[in-house]
Order: sequence, then C-alpha cells, then structure tokens
Amino acid sequence: MKSIKMGKNPSSDAAAYKHAVSLLKAGELVAFPTETVYGLGADANNLMAVAKIFAAKQRPANHPVIIHIANIAALSHWVSEIPEVVYQLADKFWPGALTLILPAADHVAPIITGGQKTIGIRMPGHPVARKLLTLFDGALAAPSANRFGRISPTSADHVVEELSDTVDLVLDGGQCVLGLESTIIDLTSDKPRILRPGPISIDQISEVLGETLSTNQNNAPRVSGSLPVHYAPQTPMKIITADEIEEKLQQLLEQYNNIVVMSRKPYTSYFPHVTWQVMPENPQNYGQQLYAQLRNLDHLAFDLILVEELPHDNDWFAVRDRLNRAAAKVN
Ligand code: TXA
Ligand code: MG
Repeated sequence: MKSIKMGKNPSSDAAAYKHAVSLLKAGELVAFPTETVYGLGADANNLMAVAKIFAAKQRPANHPVIIHIANIAALSHWVSEIPEVVYQLADKFWPGALTLILPAADHVAPIITGGQKTIGIRMPGHPVARKLLTLFDGALAAPSANRFGRISPTSADHVVEELSDTVDLVLDGGQCVLGLESTIIDLTSDKPRILRPGPISIDQISEVLGETLSTNQNNAPRVSGSLPVHYAPQTPMKIITADEIEEKLQQLLEQYNNIVVMSRKPYTSYFPHVTWQVMPENPQNYGQQLYAQLRNLDHLAFDLILVEELPHDNDWFAVRDRLNRAAAKVN
C-alpha cells in the first residue's frame, strides 16, 4: 500500500489527488482522512467498487455504509425525501462529524443500505476529504478503514496496519482531530433519535432540533458500531472506578503479570509489573487519543488494560460509549 503525505506542496498534492481520483473512477478503493477517523472510499455509484469495501474489511454484507458527499445539492440523488430539519442540521454541522439517516431513494442498491429503506449521509469536513470529493465529482461510500470489529484508524499508519494487503492507496492527512466516529442521527422515525453518540453532542443537536433527542435504541436499524463488542483491542480490558484502582490492582496482579492502567491522574503508589498511562483530562482530547492509545497498548502486549471509569456527564457520552464497547469483548 502506498501512503502519500498530503499538504507538503501543491504539485505533489495535485498528483496524489489525480492518482486517487483515477483509482476511484476505475472502481478501486482509496483510503482517505476525515476529521473523525480514516475512511475506506469507493465510488458510491459503482456497486462492484462498493463490494470491494466489504471484501477488504471482511465485513458482513448486511451492514450499511455511509455515503460521503461534497455539497448539499448531492443529497437529492440519494434520498427520497428531505425533511426541513435536515437543512437546519446541515447548516449548523456540515461539513462535519454528523451522519444523517434518511429515507433512501428507490434506486439505491441494498449493498449500500444493508437492505433497509434508509441511507446514511455525511459531508465530511477534513480538507483532504473535501478536496477529494470535489475533484472526484461524485459520492464516496466509505466506512472506517479498519477490518471488521477492529479499532477505527485515526492515522494513515493505522490504515496501513489494517489494510495494506488489500488496498493500494492511503492519502495521509495526519492524525484525525476528533478521533471518534461521527454522531449518527436517525431522522426516519417519528422522533429524531441518536444511533451512535459522537463528537457532536446530544445537547448540540437537541438545541437545533428544539427538542431533546431520544436515545432509545429499541428497534434501531442495523448499525455495526452498535454491536457490543465493536471497537475492541485484542488485549482484555476492564473498567473500574478511580477509588478501586489500588485494591483491584492487588487482586489482579495475582492473575495477570503485566498490567497497564489508563488513568487521568498520575501514578500514586508503586506497583511492580504495572505501567501507568496518563490520559487527557478533557473529553475532546481523550476522544482524540483513545483509539491510537488502545492500538499502541495492544502492540506493547500487556495482558490486561485497566481503565479508570470516565465521568458520567454528557460531555463524556461518546468516549464512554466507545470505551464500554471496547471493554465488552469477552476474551
Ligand atoms: O465518522 C464516520 O462516520 C466514519 C468516517 C469514515 O466517515 N465512518 C464510519 O463508517 O464510521 P462505519 O461504516 O464504520 O460506521 C457507520 C455506521 C455503521 O455502523 C452502519 O451500520 C451505520 O453507520 N449506518 C450506515 N447506514 C445506515 C443506515 N441506513 N441505517 C442505520 N445505520 C446505518
Ligand atoms: Mg467502522
């Protein structure tokens, strides 16, 4: 897999975009940065190309993919009906980390929708994603550029690690500034509801909607990110409260030889065979670093990742969601 650093100079950028667009037009896959996580893109109007995404990720065929668009005019091709609230949300949050689930236009293939009557649409904000979409002059179907069930990539190196044997090109746009996947809002049921918490908070969205967003997940359409064991590292993980750490460590050291603790506070007392990984104090920075840190700790081959529980306020909702899923893996 070729990884091309973007933003070095205009002529190498131009050559990289040209190469990426020609691959996409030829029905090949290109990985690209977004402000949330890296995406694995295919021409959304070429079903053979979209099928390659599923093969590369080893993703089950019934999981829908998000369509990435460059401008709001592109919506009408994909969607059968655009509720007024879409324009309000788009005005406020697009381009950005928000995916909207809308009624799919009749022509949209089941491989995109996962056989449902709805479609997920997002207008990403990363300059490389925007430029690529504009030059490609079409829409890109793009899930996160990781193998199914694994942690989403937040740098080009992660993409190489995940997909180097199946994908030819990744545009390297640096480390993702948000680091967690987009917030997904379903606008196809009676009331808007959140399917996946993300960088754009429930409070921000509720403010635009003028009503409190429902977090009811009952009868939710298929969202692979909502499977309990999604986003999991290989190393077993446990979440414990800050007060319990010392006591639990004593016990766990009888069972595990090499433990790392992810904590927002620095080391208090010394334990042999325990490594302390200090994490950021605020939810934005914590979210940005979470996946990279889990990947890093996986490489270091600890036999347990112990994570200090995060605050329960709304600001931490998305990070807590990902952490709980990562820890839900039964090893
Ligand atoms: O931040 C993001 O959203 C990243 C970047 C690359 O845009 N993409 C991403 O895609 O996270 P993916 O496929 O890894 O996760 C998208 C989620 C999936 O869990 C999928 O099931 C859900 O969106 N989804 C897509 N279309 C849907 C639909 N019509 N109804 C319900 N869920 C849908
Ligand atoms: Mg994903």
